[in-house]
Amino acid sequence: MSTVYNFCAGPAMLPPPVMAKAQTELLDWQGQGVSVMEVSHRGAPFIELAKTSEADVRELMNIPDNYHVLFMHGGGRGQFAAIVNNFLGNNGRALYLVSGQWSRSAAAEACRLVGDAQVDTMDIVSKVNGLNQVTLPALTGAADKYRYVHYCPNETVDGIEIFDEIDAPWPVIADMSSTIMSRPVDVSKFGLIYAGAQKNIGPSGLSIVIVRDDLLQLPSVNPSSIMDYRIAVKHDSMFNTPPTFAWYLAAEVFKWLKSMGGIAAIESRNKQKAALLYQCIDQLPFYKNGVALPNRSRMNVTFQLADEALNKAFLTAAETHGLVALKGHRSVGGMRASLYNAMPLEGVQALVDFMQAFAAKHSA
Ligand SMILES: Cc1ncc(COP(=O)(O)O)c(C=O)c1O
Repeated sequence: MSTVYNFCAGPAMLPPPVMAKAQTELLDWQGQGVSVMEVSHRGAPFIELAKTSEADVRELMNIPDNYHVLFMHGGGRGQFAAIVNNFLGNNGRALYLVSGQWSRSAAAEACRLVGDAQVDTMDIVSKVNGLNQVTLPALTGAADKYRYVHYCPNETVDGIEIFDEIDAPWPVIADMSSTIMSRPVDVSKFGLIYAGAQKNIGPSGLSIVIVRDDLLQLPSVNPSSIMDYRIAVKHDSMFNTPPTFAWYLAAEVFKWLKSMGGIAAIESRNKQKAALLYQCIDQLPFYKNGVALPNRSRMNVTFQLADEALNKAFLTAAETHGLVALKGHRSVGGMRASLYNAMPLEGVQALVDFMQAFAAKHSA
């Protein structure tokens, strides 16, 4: 089969060496004669996997000791609800910074659970010279005004990334579903980081939560047991049966990331990939991108064809070149190339070569 480069926004491509290893181990994990999917999560081999994967996350992200690393269920949206149930209680308030579809959805879920009166939202994107740009507000106020401020550093749908840190007198909670481990972050600046796994970590279903210990003292309103951070901490993420196969693959992805030189090394590769694609978009009037330079996402590059009537032809031709899943999210249209950690530079080069040839063929 000829090479296929998969630009899906999630579930996204996984590193080929990880998939190849999973294939060789599928029927016999660690000489047990059965797969990792078929053994108890409480047996010694899986407990060892869990410990090693946590240690690897801690090492990769340089996580201070006063943070817990949890492997939970329910993807990104599961955490939209969990943070509300764990931290807002009956009368706590939270501030949601809105920069695109996912931060808006997180705020909507909070309103759904506790009502609008406990949730403030603040739009932080505006048009500057026709481009979407984030302006971070000066966040000041009494320390007890909000239990937390929530934001999404990478808006997967809108192709907007926030590289600056949020400075606030309240714990900062970040939905890093589509940017986690793509560049170094200073974990000590956050109260909680969460991510659905299906972009940079592994298959869908699993979510990673990194939570500072003192946040666990905030009053909760009895979240369901499987979404209660305190219970997850107490039971080492195994109060109930965890998504073991997803966890196993995530553990392999962490090993792969370490073999690639860690997150600083992967960041420079990610910068190179994104620069190559944005350069192509900027050089050809045939394509355009609607995000201001400081907020262009490295993980999800959105672009439009100047003549939208050619969208279908573009996608069909791209597929025949082995370049798949380039269609933009249905809410924004156009195209989107997701360049998560697993996407090699060759994949981006193949896309750029195709885009140049397609533009040449269809330009008058
Ligand atoms: C930034 C972000 N947050 C949350 C989600 C929702 O994740 P899930 O579908 O796992 O609930 C997504 C999904 O693509 C996302 O990109």
